Amino acid sequence: MTQERTAVIVRLVDRSPSITGEEILASLVPPRQFAHARFETYLPNPEFAAQAQAVEHLTELSHTWFARPGGLFHRGPHHPAVTKPGIYLDGGFGVGKTHLLAAVWHTAPEPKYYGTFMQYTALIGALGYAEVIELLRDARLLCIDEFEFDDPGDTMMMTRLLSELVASGSKIVATSNTPPNALGQGRFAAGDFLREIQAMSDSFEVIRIEGPDYRRRDLTRRAATMGVQEYERALTGLASRGAGVSSDDFDALIEHLATLHPSRYGKLLEGLQVVGLAGARVTHEQMEALRFAVFVDRLYDSAIPVIATGVPLSDVFDETMLTGGYRKKYLRASSRLVALTTGELVDQTQ
Ligand SMILES: Nc1ncnc2c1ncn2[C@@H]1O[C@H](COP(=O)(O)OP(=O)(O)OP(=O)(O)O)[C@@H](O)[C@H]1O
Ligand SMILES: [Mg+2]
Repeated sequence: MTQERTAVIVRLVDRSPSITGEEILASLVPPRQFAHARFETYLPNPEFAAQAQAVEHLTELSHTWFARPGGLFHRGPHHPAVTKPGIYLDGGFGVGKTHLLAAVWHTAPEPKYYGTFMQYTALIGALGYAEVIELLRDARLLCIDEFEFDDPGDTMMMTRLLSELVASGSKIVATSNTPPNALGQGRFAAGDFLREIQAMSDSFEVIRIEGPDYRRRDLTRRAATMGVQEYERALTGLASRGAGVSSDDFDALIEHLATLHPSRYGKLLEGLQVVGLAGARVTHEQMEALRFAVFVDRLYDSAIPVIATGVPLSDVFDETMLTGGYRKKYLRASSRLVALTTGELVDQTQ
């Protein structure tokens, strides 16, 4: 008997995932997009010497940090290497900061953790600070992607967590999200980071990675968009072949995102291989746009392609946003949306 496969297309607006502290803890590993990121798969741009230097430096550092006495990489007594316990990777978007962060993680022995700033703050929110310290205390390495400065309370809490972990021997590697008002250059970010984590700044060495967006989206490139019929055909075709597919009205999804804590956006995408968004339009609302940008980050981490109708998704952020304080967040989301809609995801999972 042959079984007809019926095309099941879910709606994200019907999902309201909750997430427990245990689930967040279990998710503290590099996301799908970076599961295979290694130093060897980072191809330094020959025009920017800082890239090759960063890889070399991080490789050395991992050996120093994680070498087993007498092991292959142990330096022996003649080369005592003094290193700071923390590294801050600084650079513009798309230069490979997250790639290198994941690559360092892969060199470290367990116990080790990898998450975004938001995942760690959500973990503390779910389990409480004292329990999180107990859980993470033995970590050999803690990787924190996209350190945020939007909420001074969160920044202080994370700084305190880091100083306790460093005191008990953990190594830390961090990147930061663009601080508000750091217009233009990423080069202000290192100063911002060190200032914000004041008490801890002596523990961090800054590694600067120069270069263009590896996704090579010059800002004139736009996200792909489809006609309504083509969109429906594509989704139904994918779903009938058994792919996990969702389809939502852009507006309805934007409204739905407001009802969920951003730390849950990742779980919203569970089991999906393609996400459809119908009727994309330009947004003029800052909060709406910021939530959508975080949602795009989770799509990107999970390497889930997007198909859409309406205005190209890379154009949904209006002029005021692209010239305002969160400009870089939106430019990055646009760059990611081009990659997500044009089938040019850097898929390292194969
Ligand atoms: N030099 C490189 N060699 C190989 N792959 C790279 C290189 N630089 C970046 N990539 C790839 O390009 C994509 C973008 O890099 P990544 O996300 O690490 O950049 P980022 O600096 O973290 O930027 P973002 O601001 O988007 O967080 C990733 O898929 C990464 O694996
Ligand atoms: Mg990144």
